[in-house]
Amino acid sequence: MNKATVVSGIRPTGYLHLGNYFGAVQNFLRMQEDFNCYFFIADVHSLTTHPTPDNLQAGVKQVLAEYLACGIDPEKSTIFIQSDVPEITELYTILNMNAYLGELERTTSFKDKARKQPENVNAGLLTYPVLMASDILIHKAHFVPVGKDQEQNLEMARKFGKRFNRMYKSEVFPIPKPFTFDGADLIKVPGLDGSGKMGKSEGNAINLFDTEKDIRKKVMRAVTDSGPTEPNSEKPEAIQNLFTLMKIVSEPAVIEQFETAYNQCEIRYGDMKKQLAEDIIKVTLPIRERIVDILDDNEHLAKVARMGAEKARESALKTLKEVKELVGFRKLY
Ligand code: TYM
Repeated sequence: MNKATVVSGIRPTGYLHLGNYFGAVQNFLRMQEDFNCYFFIADVHSLTTHPTPDNLQAGVKQVLAEYLACGIDPEKSTIFIQSDVPEITELYTILNMNAYLGELERTTSFKDKARKQPENVNAGLLTYPVLMASDILIHKAHFVPVGKDQEQNLEMARKFGKRFNRMYKSEVFPIPKPFTFDGADLIKVPGLDGSGKMGKSEGNAINLFDTEKDIRKKVMRAVTDSGPTEPNSEKPEAIQNLFTLMKIVSEPAVIEQFETAYNQCEIRYGDMKKQLAEDIIKVTLPIRERIVDILDDNEHLAKVARMGAEKARESALKTLKEVKELVGFRKLY
C-alpha cells in the first residue's frame, strides 16, 4: 500500500529551540518510520525578514545539521532546502492568482508581523500563507506536523488547495490535515518570560545548541512571583508556563512533587528551576554534541542536501506538470 505523504518545514533564522523540537521535530522523528516524509528548510520564507546573505547561509547549514542531529534520517525522509526546488515558487505564482487581499490581510501572522516590523510590511509577508500552501501542495501532502502557531496558515493551505481543485474541476491536491499522534492537540511550548510562546524573534527561547551553562542561566532567569498564599490557587501565566515546560521534559513523579508543593504553598521556585534546567539539559546535551560533530562535516551536509534536492524536485515536478496542464499552460511547440 502507498504510504501517506507528510510535509513540514522550519525557517532557518537561528537555532532550533525547544518549541521547534517539541512542536514539530519530535513528530517528524516518529512519522519518518511510517510515512513518505518531506522535511525542509524554509529559506525562501526567511527572506520576508531580510536576513543578511551570510546569516541566511549559516542558518540553513545550522538547521540542516540540527535536523540530522535530532535523528531525521536522510535515507528514510527527504530532507531538502526550499530554494533548491524552484517548482515551489512557480506553484506559488500560480496560487497567488487565486488568493485574495482581504483573506491574506486578515491572517493573524500577517497582522502580528505588520505590528512587529512596521518598517518592512512587504508583499512576501502578505502572501506568506500562499508560499506555505505551495510547500505543502507541491508534494500532495496528506499530513502536516506543526505546532499550534501554524494552525491558521495550515487552514489557509487547505483553503487554497480546495479552491484550486474546485476552480479547475480536479482532485489534483489532497486536502492536507494538521497531524499529531494519538489525536493530541497541536502544542504550544511557552517561553520563559512569563508570556506567550517560545519563539526565535521573542528572545525567550532555549535552543538545542545552547550550552549547559546557557540553559541554566536562562532557566534561572525565568519570570516567577513570590509564590501562592492560598492552597490550591490558580497559577498565574508565568508559573503555569514553568509547569508546562516541566510537563514536556520531566518525569511524572518530579512534576507531581512540584504540583503538590505549589498546592500546599510550599513551592521553592529556585529548586523547581534547577530541576527544570537539568531535565532540559538531559534532552538537549546529546543533541548539541551531535550538532557540533555534524557541522564539521561539510561533505556529508552537501551530500544530504543534494540527495534531498533531487528527490524533492522529482516529486515537485510531477505535481507542477499537472497543475500547468490544468490552468492551460499547454505547449504550442
Ligand atoms: P517556524 O520556523 O516558526 O517553526 C517551525 C516549527 O516549529 C513549531 N513551533 C512551535 N511549536 C510549539 N510551540 C512553540 N513555541 C513553537 N515555535 C515554533 C512551528 O509550529 C513549526 O511547526 N511557516 C513555518 C515554516 C513553514 C512550514 C511550511 C511548516 C514554511 N512552510 C509548510 C509546515 C509546512 C514557520 O515559520 O515555522
